[in-house]
Amino acid sequence: MAPPGRRSLRPELLRTLLGCDVWEYRRRHPEHGEVFDAAMRTFSRVDSAAVLAAHDFGRYGVVADIGGGTGAVLVAVLAAHPSARGILFDQPHVVAGADSVLRAAGVADRVRVEPGDFFAAVPSGADAYVLARVLHDWADEDALGILRSVRAAMTPDARVLLVEAVVGPPNEDPSVKFLDLMMLVSAGGQERTEDEWRTLLAAAGLELTAATRATSNIVIEAAPARSR
Ligand SMILES: C[S@@+](CC[C@H](N)C(=O)[O-])C[C@H]1O[C@@H](n2cnc3c(N)ncnc32)[C@H](O)[C@@H]1O
Repeated sequence: MAPPGRRSLRPELLRTLLGCDVWEYRRRHPEHGEVFDAAMRTFSRVDSAAVLAAHDFGRYGVVADIGGGTGAVLVAVLAAHPSARGILFDQPHVVAGADSVLRAAGVADRVRVEPGDFFAAVPSGADAYVLARVLHDWADEDALGILRSVRAAMTPDARVLLVEAVVGPPNEDPSVKFLDLMMLVSAGGQERTEDEWRTLLAAAGLELTAATRATSNIVIEAAPARSR
């Protein structure tokens, strides 16, 4: 699914091992994909209260969850904000498993499910673009490609909301450093410091406007640089 010509060696190492990248591997092996998607639902449910406390999602009429898996983050946002609507965007074989999650939560009638490839384009028309635990799967040039797709879809008033870990100073917060290593070997990705997030966002034409701790994660808000 990834476009040719992207340069990081780390995904290349995984491709050598698996014969494809991890996302394609999970598509080809649905039994692995289902376990991964269920694990992501659990992570999302565990930290959704902290994420909702860290940021006022009530400001947005339409929230797009980009790389939103089967919708657990979006479910939490819409359950807390009954007048909001959602767009769930992920790979076709992943969003195919979202219907039961959205129905069980009673929010299916407020969600438009859109399959796609975030390196190509993401849906326009949202007030907020949530990327929860997405960019840490990718090395910088790929993360930048995803952010550029999001930036291209945004109106000047829209916001990007990253839910990610933040690497702290040396000898602090060892769990994030362990996660950094895990992302490197499991997906070719990485964790980032707040400055690294700011730099990455700026390269995509986005300005970091707030960073709020949400237990083990941080909610990073960014706006189109030109609108400020
Ligand atoms: C680590 S999971 C995060 C899921 C969800 N945001 C959460 O926090 O529970 C990353 C997601 O990115 C999606 N993804 C990977 N490559 C993609 C692509 N090219 N286009 C759209 N989604 C993609 C995966 O299918 C997966 O659901």
